[in-house]
Amino acid sequence: ISLKPFNTFGVDASARFFAEVNSVEELTETLKSSNTQTLKLFLGGGSNLLLTKDFEGLAIRLNLKGITEEIINDNEILVTAKAGENWHQFVMFCLEKNYGGLENLSLIPGNVGTSPMQNIGAYGTEIKDVFESCKVLNLKTLELETLNSEQCRFGYRDSIFKQEGKGKYVILEVTFRLTTKTHRIDVEYGAIQSELENLGIINPTIQDVSRAVINIRQSKLPDPKEIGNAGSFFKNPTIPLAQYETLKLKFENIPGYPNGDFVKVPAGWLIEQCGWKGKQIGNVASHKLQALVIINATGNATGKEIFDFSTMIIDSVKEKYGIELEREVNII
Ligand code: EPU
Repeated sequence: ISLKPFNTFGVDASARFFAEVNSVEELTETLKSSNTQTLKLFLGGGSNLLLTKDFEGLAIRLNLKGITEEIINDNEILVTAKAGENWHQFVMFCLEKNYGGLENLSLIPGNVGTSPMQNIGAYGTEIKDVFESCKVLNLKTLELETLNSEQCRFGYRDSIFKQEGKGKYVILEVTFRLTTKTHRIDVEYGAIQSELENLGIINPTIQDVSRAVINIRQSKLPDPKEIGNAGSFFKNPTIPLAQYETLKLKFENIPGYPNGDFVKVPAGWLIEQCGWKGKQIGNVASHKLQALVIINATGNATGKEIFDFSTMIIDSVKEKYGIELEREVNII
C-alpha cells in the first residue's frame, strides 16, 4: 500500500503491510497477531516524517478519536485528547470553549498523539508548558502506562520518545492543563506583537493570539495540503558562547539567542546565507519564504532525493560556519 496520503511530504513510498486501528483494543489485537520480528511504523499525522525508501514492515495508522474534560479548580481544566485527533482542530476546540494555553500553537500540522514526541513549539510556547500527562502503550509488555511531564524529559524539540524511549511506546492520549478564566497571554515573540498591531488589537484575548499566529504561519510557511513539506527540517543549533563570539568576528550579522553559556542560532539564517533559500534541485527545494523548510516542489520527489538535498545543506553550512545542523524530521 502506498503511504503517500499518510506523510505530509507527499512521498510515494509503500508499506509491505498496513493496518488502521480505531481503539486501544484494536491496536493491541493487531500487535498480538503480528509477528514480533516484523518492523512497525506508527503513523499519526505524518507531518514530521521522511520515508527514504519502501517500508518492509507493518505500518499502523492510529485513528483513536475523542476529547474529554475534567474541571479541577475554578481556573483550571484537564483536557484529554486521543492520539488521532488533528492537532489544529483540537486547538480550535479549546479556543471555542475559551480554554487557554494552546493558542500560540495554532495551525501546527499533525496529530495530538505525536505532539509530545518532539515537544512541539512555536511563538514562545512549547507543549511542555501545558502538558499534564500522556497515556502510552508499552510495546514490550502491552500494558498501559501514564507518563507525567518529568518522565517525558522534554527539551527543545526533544523528549524521552526520541531518546531512550524510542520505539518503546505508542502514545494513545495526551492530557493538557489549561486555564478557563484568567489566561496567561504570551505575546513576547516579536512577530506576534507586530501582527497584533497590524490587526489593531491592544488587549489581545487568547483567540486574538491564535488569529495572529495563524496569519504569521500562513504568510511564510507552505500549507502541506498544497506543497509537500514537514515544517522545519532542521533544529536550530545551539553552540557554545565562545564559538559564537568567534563567528561574530567574521560574520558580524549572525543572529543568536543567548541561553547561559550557549547561543541558539537560527538555522534558517545559516541556510539562507549559504544561498539555499528558494533554491531548487530536481524535485526538491528550500522554501522561498523560510529556508528552514524543505519542500517537495514538484510533488514527485522521492524521500531519497529530499534526504540528499538535506545532506547538501548540512555540508555547506558546516563548511561556511563550522556548525553541524541536525535533522528534526524523523527519517525512516
Ligand atoms: N531566518 C532567516 N532566513 C530564513 C528563515 C529564518 O534569516 O529563511 C531568520 C529570521 O530572520 C529570524 C530567525 O531566523 O530572525 C528565526 O526565524 P523564525 O521566527 O521564522 O523561526 P525559526 O527559528 O526559523 C522556529 C521553529 C518553527 C516555529 C518558529 C516560530 C524550529 C526548528 N523551528 O523556526 O517551528 O514555527 O520558530 O516559533 O525550532 C517546525 O518545527 O516545523 C516549525 C515550523
